[in-house]
Amino acid sequence: MSGPAAVIAGLGAWLPPRVVTNDDLAARLDTTDSWIRERTGIRERRRVGAGMATGDLAVEAGRLALKASGSDSADTVVLATTTPDRPCPATAPEVAARLGLSGAAAFDVSAVCTGFLYALAAAAGLVATGTAERVLLIGAEAYSTILDPDDRTTAAIFGDGAGAVVLRAGRPEEPGAVGRCVLGSDGDHSDLIRIPAGGSRQRSAGGPADPQDHYFRMDGRKVYRHAVERMTAAAHQALAAAGWTADEVDRLAAHQANARITDAVAERLGVPPQRRLANIGRVGNTAAASVPLLLAEETAAGRLREGDRTLLAAFGGGLTWGAATVVWPRVTAYVNTEAEAA
Ligand code: UT7
Repeated sequence: MSGPAAVIAGLGAWLPPRVVTNDDLAARLDTTDSWIRERTGIRERRRVGAGMATGDLAVEAGRLALKASGSDSADTVVLATTTPDRPCPATAPEVAARLGLSGAAAFDVSAVCTGFLYALAAAAGLVATGTAERVLLIGAEAYSTILDPDDRTTAAIFGDGAGAVVLRAGRPEEPGAVGRCVLGSDGDHSDLIRIPAGGSRQRSAGGPADPQDHYFRMDGRKVYRHAVERMTAAAHQALAAAGWTADEVDRLAAHQANARITDAVAERLGVPPQRRLANIGRVGNTAAASVPLLLAEETAAGRLREGDRTLLAAFGGGLTWGAATVVWPRVTAYVNTEAEAA
């Protein structure tokens, strides 16, 4: 007899209100609205206001997901993020306390844009062993806080936001049950996505860091190639584990890295374009928040529906990648995407 499985019970998404359009970026950087749209599919992204941190976004999305699940309780809080409120301690315990969940197990997961898939696998494992019964799983990023304001490439791509999912203990054959997750990494390419300073490597070298080394750096062209190959391979493995063909996938929820990347992954898999979920035009690449934000928005909009065979896939720094399959349950999602001009 198999043990309990983690089942999706509610979703939430929260975006900071400040909208930054491509024209806003073009007003101070050597870029254009047409370059950004054509190369990335992004029209605008959100940015946190002064003093707003990842924990604030996580609390808002987490609150909405708990409400959607019909219960304010959780015994475990997992936060996937690249931009914790501070290097130490983890942000998740404070998020848990602010949500009235003091006493819950709480930890952060660091896998850059694959963070949500890694956190999902960890949470599903905790439920399967009986260690947890209700997990609040959040992906949140204040990515703009690590961007070099003068780097037109990263400034154009990344955005801030948060998405959250509540998982409850259920049966493996139920709709919403998270099956086997496929995860992988290749640390030989850790230099392709990095923040050079601020960790023990730089600190132990002595002397102050170059201020420029505190910014996020990415070798976009190389990352692009890896992203397409790795996400496609992980998705194939997840499909094989579920016993699905690409033709049977109703919805592809891929990390919103770049519209060209998700299009290429869908094409290589043989998933028709109309089954590919996308919100990158409005929110940009929100790293660890990307997949839960997409799932919450699409559920709230009625485009991700009960019974949909859904394929999740992500890729990020590390390098890391992951994929999973879920038959979408009857579930509620609450989303707050109220906007104001920059
Ligand atoms: O989230 C997971 C990890 N991240 C990703 O998956 C992102 C992966 N990479 C990408 O999405 C793309 O590589 C980028 C969007 C970052 C760049 O697009 P690209 O088509 O790969 O452009 P490129 O890097 O090959 O650059 C082409 C040209 C370069 O100029 P030269 O050398 O040809 O003169 C860039 O300097 O475009 C230039 N460029 C820009 N021009 C206008 C780069 N960024 C911009 C910009 N505006 N914002």
